[in-house]
Amino acid sequence: MDKFLIRGGRNLRGKIEISGAKNSALPCLAATLLTPETVTLHNVPYVKDLITQRRLLEDLGATVLTPELRTHKVSAANVEVFEAPYELVKTMRASVLALGPLLARFGQAKVSLPGGCAIGTRPIDLHLKAFEQLGANVSLESGDVVARAPKGRLIGAEINFEKVSVTGTENVMMAAVLAKGKTTIHSAAREPEIEDLAELLNKMGGRIKGAGEETIEIEGVENLGGAEHTIIPDRIETGTFIVAAAITYGELEIKNCHPEHLKAVIEKLRETGVEIDELNQSTLFVKCSTKGLEAKDVTTEPHPKFPTDMQAQYMALMTQAEGSSSISETIFENRFMHASELMRMGANIHISGNTATVRGKTKLLGAPIQASDLRASASLVLAALAAEGETVVNRVYHIDRGYETIVKKLRNIGADIDRITDNIALSAE
Ligand code: UD1
Repeated sequence: MDKFLIRGGRNLRGKIEISGAKNSALPCLAATLLTPETVTLHNVPYVKDLITQRRLLEDLGATVLTPELRTHKVSAANVEVFEAPYELVKTMRASVLALGPLLARFGQAKVSLPGGCAIGTRPIDLHLKAFEQLGANVSLESGDVVARAPKGRLIGAEINFEKVSVTGTENVMMAAVLAKGKTTIHSAAREPEIEDLAELLNKMGGRIKGAGEETIEIEGVENLGGAEHTIIPDRIETGTFIVAAAITYGELEIKNCHPEHLKAVIEKLRETGVEIDELNQSTLFVKCSTKGLEAKDVTTEPHPKFPTDMQAQYMALMTQAEGSSSISETIFENRFMHASELMRMGANIHISGNTATVRGKTKLLGAPIQASDLRASASLVLAALAAEGETVVNRVYHIDRGYETIVKKLRNIGADIDRITDNIALSAE
């Protein structure tokens, strides 16, 4: 298993380009199943989850061409299989995003039920309940979700999400876009990735209004056609590099990002003393205040509030801030696994229920540590960059799922980081 060897203590300086958003590219690739015509997606990040999503499309019978590394031209004209097997779903939960489009276009879908994962139980009951409300018969057979639309087509309905769900909202949007009649989604997730998917679906001929708001209205259409679309920049990668500049007392120009998509993160980091200037609509300049960092509390909540996907990175930063900060996680029940690894490096963190209290500033010292999930890995890499001495981060396959060429990007801005590989490294790295 690959590892990172990081020698900390260097100030990161220079320019960094943000890649396309993994969490937008995943549903957009799934949406290509909705039409027999070709859909071209640009700015698809070269990360493991997208390679898995591509494999899923190909297993179903779609043809995926990549004339350039980050451009995917997908033709789902010859899809003949309607099933996402356990081998794929167990490596990537987002495979459940195939359910909505398959059910909408072919009236049937079978997707292995994802189990729990490192950050919690993560059920998909809300997706399934919504499909039933759209007229599907849904059953669980030998660990698979089997869904069928009785007359081959779903029927528009009023969907009330009891809890805000990002992929749940996306799955329902993709199911309802080809349903007969109108669907209204109440308590919809408002993440920028929802808006991006709706934009693609509308380019394909869909009639979706209100994406990015709490209520989304979808007028079902008979067919969808081809389209061309560029995936939005990754707001979590952007946030991670802002923290990288701050935690190493560096200075970074972050290009090709979309600051509007991470207002809550920028606001919170400014409160702690990180200087963030918006040079233009897609470029940020970040540096840590010479006064150092001040501890501030944070609570994760659905967009537009502070995202759970930035919680781990924020915790790493708070180990370097003066004072005590309380970090409350309200989205996932078990998302503090990075805390014990940070403590091995010298952090002072106390966890009680869904709140972690970080007391800083503590000196971090390099140590062998273990990544447990995607964002936890990012948090540990950040801590290692700020630590004195050498850190070995084990199990970095988690970070490969969502951060494009992270080693190369970090080296370009002055980090001392190597990938120790047992197998062949990701070719773009
Ligand atoms: C997506 C993101 C993930 C991010 C998360 C929260 C993708 C591919 N992944 O995950 O990076 O951390 O949003 O912003 O976009 N829930 C249920 N039943 C359901 C669905 C969800 O109880 O049917 C619960 C979950 O367990 C969790 C909460 O709702 O507690 C929010 O989860 P959800 O928004 O669905 O997360 P994902 O879409 O899986």
